[in-house]
Amino acid sequence: MFTLETAATAAYVVAALLFILALAGLSKHETSRAGNTFGMAGMVVALVATIALALARHIEPLGLGLLIAAMAIGAAIGLWRARVVEMTGMPELIALLHSFVGLAAVLVGWNGYLHVEHDLAGAEAAVLSNEGMLGIHSAEVFIGVFIGAVTFTGSIVANLKLSARIKSAPLMLPGKNFLNVGALVLFVVFTVWFVIDPQLWLLIVVTVLALLLGWHLVASIGGGDMPVVVSMLNSYSGWAAAASGFLLSNDLLIVTGALVGSSGAYLSYIMCKAMNRSFISVIAGGFGIEAGPAEDKDYGEHREITAEGAAELLSSASSVIITPGYGMAVAQAQYGVAELTRKLRERGVTVRFGIHPVAGRLPGHMNVLLAEAKVPYDIVLEMDEINDDFENTSVVLVIGANDTVNPAASEDPGSPIAGMPVLTVWNAEHVIVFKRSMASGYAGVQNPLFFRENTQMLFGDARDRVDDINAAL
Ligand code: TAP
Repeated sequence: MFTLETAATAAYVVAALLFILALAGLSKHETSRAGNTFGMAGMVVALVATIALALARHIEPLGLGLLIAAMAIGAAIGLWRARVVEMTGMPELIALLHSFVGLAAVLVGWNGYLHVEHDLAGAEAAVLSNEGMLGIHSAEVFIGVFIGAVTFTGSIVANLKLSARIKSAPLMLPGKNFLNVGALVLFVVFTVWFVIDPQLWLLIVVTVLALLLGWHLVASIGGGDMPVVVSMLNSYSGWAAAASGFLLSNDLLIVTGALVGSSGAYLSYIMCKAMNRSFISVIAGGFGIEAGPAEDKDYGEHREITAEGAAELLSSASSVIITPGYGMAVAQAQYGVAELTRKLRERGVTVRFGIHPVAGRLPGHMNVLLAEAKVPYDIVLEMDEINDDFENTSVVLVIGANDTVNPAASEDPGSPIAGMPVLTVWNAEHVIVFKRSMASGYAGVQNPLFFRENTQMLFGDARDRVDDINAAL
């Protein structure tokens, strides 16, 4: 028989399929717009079905009012933030959104406890007891609260680090690995205890423990590894949502949470491979990574070049590689860079782009900016595709990149970014670095590239300097 409840269940299946199509679409440039549309459609179907389900279950008017008010306020804030956020502010916004998912999972877990374990004489506990499911419910509450609280504080620290409100350097507490492992062992012991005897104080203790652990895990991870942390928190937020789905008996939330959780974990794995980092070490809060000695090295003098000098060098070049980084995003220099590319190509110069997997502050950050400025896809290459070609290149333009072109990563085993693959720009005949000062990049380490014989610094805002070169050409 057709009821609102069966229709809502069917709609959940449709929404889950749309979310899977969204993930598939987002995996390629060409289909990413379609992927986004599928995701939005899935979310609309899910929201409508949730309200229909609430109506079918005879939600009280007050509850319905609160549901609609919460959705309206959430939608208004979401629309406003999405309109005003700068591309450079996206990572910290995403980190903040993950923290909301974590907080929601904690609240859902506590709500589950208050309705069931705290009220063992009540109707809900009686139903679960009859079905022999009380222990499973307690485990769901405990695990959901734990994952949610780790995600909540971890994401807040990530937000603070990404927005530079706290230092990106790793926090090195003595015995940090012991603290993390100890917290996990305590969590397992308390979970068993809570399932056998669900006491309020155990839930309070695990909430506080998880809040501290989340804070410590992310605080212990250093600047260069933050991209992995963001995708890892994305994964945690998915598992937190799935845990809430079990508690709320909401299949769609379980499916969606699992999709986010596993795709986030896979993205973290791919990024760890690209950065030559151990996946386990990063998810365990920098397990096994120790602080290197503070550096105080004299690298010598750097040389400077003017925009006119750079234009001259470029006009006589046969091949040019541009390696953009976070500074190009800050300066919004991509349009000038696209124009420069066009001008040079018209003069017969081969121009290509070399994109480091963690350039900027988001996976694909540079690709999005270059696509926005209509740079053809086929000259935008990944690091692995272009790294051997620097030797045969006349001029490399490093536009607002720093950590991703730092030779210390491959030459100095004591560097905090040691082992991270970088673009080997220094092998080219000439390197021109666009930046405003001699300041270090996101990971906070000095870059010996700036002092090499074949490197010249072009100081100033990247957009202004690129415009100057365009004018001179
Ligand atoms: P960074 O190492 O962050 O360096 C960017 C450089 O741009 C800075 O040295 C800065 O120097 C310069 N800059 C800033 N504003 C500028 C402007 N208006 N004009 C010209 N230059 C400007 O960049 P990167 O090479 O792209 O490396 C990315 C870093 O971020 C890596 O450490 C990575 O691990 C981390 N990270 C990446 C992600 C993802 S997923 N991509 C996420 C989080 C963190 P001045 O101040 O001297 O101008």
